[in-house]
Amino acid sequence: MEFFEVIDKRRTVRDFENEKISQVVIEKIIGAALKAPTNDHMRDWHYIVIQNRNTVMKLLDIIPKGISDEDMEQLIRDWNLSDNEQQNAYRDAVPKQHKMLMDASVVVIPLLKQKTDILHPDNISHLNGFASIWCSIENLFLASTAEGYGCTLRIPLGNEGEYAKEMLGFPDDYFMPCFIGIGKPKKNASVIKQKNIDVKERIHWDNW
Ligand SMILES: Cc1cc2nc3c(=O)[nH]c(=O)nc-3n(C[C@H](O)[C@H](O)[C@H](O)COP(=O)(O)O)c2cc1C
Repeated sequence: MEFFEVIDKRRTVRDFENEKISQVVIEKIIGAALKAPTNDHMRDWHYIVIQNRNTVMKLLDIIPKGISDEDMEQLIRDWNLSDNEQQNAYRDAVPKQHKMLMDASVVVIPLLKQKTDILHPDNISHLNGFASIWCSIENLFLASTAEGYGCTLRIPLGNEGEYAKEMLGFPDDYFMPCFIGIGKPKKNASVIKQKNIDVKERIHWDNW
């Protein structure tokens, strides 16, 4: 697939077919993730790939299994989501948080080595590792797209990250930025309209 086609086709997918991904393809996708730019040259990233259904089920058990329409509308008010397209994006995404990862062919947990308290950085460079892993994650998304797969992600809320650490046994100095699901998109998978951005309005030549 041509590079800019991959960029256009990479969309968050939350509805997956029940279909396996081969180990070779997973290794290719994660190989691409491991080639992303890195702050300290070390690429100290690991990816836990979970295929075992029982492990997936247990890992995701802590994630809310849905949301009532009433609570959904309350969440939109609480989070001050005033843009219509944004509201619709959340109305599609929030109820699927558990199911999208359950239905993905694999759940992937990216990990970065974090030497300082990520929630209380002294300066912005203490967040470099966090920034780097997101470059790595985007490579994973693009590589998955190029291979004909779709991806979803969830930021761990509450103690979901701690729970995952205990369950999966990753070391204390590694931090999990998100859950990722990779799978074959369903034919009728809902793809939320991306906001139209006028590139000319967003580029500021020479000064703002
Ligand atoms: C930092 C970050 C956090 C996100 N958190 C979530 C999340 O917790 N749950 C979810 O379903 N999608 C999450 N997403 C996916 C966004 O909802 C999605 O990227 C956005 O709606 C734009 O759609 P697109 O990816 O199809 O362009 C997140 C994306 C990013 C980059």
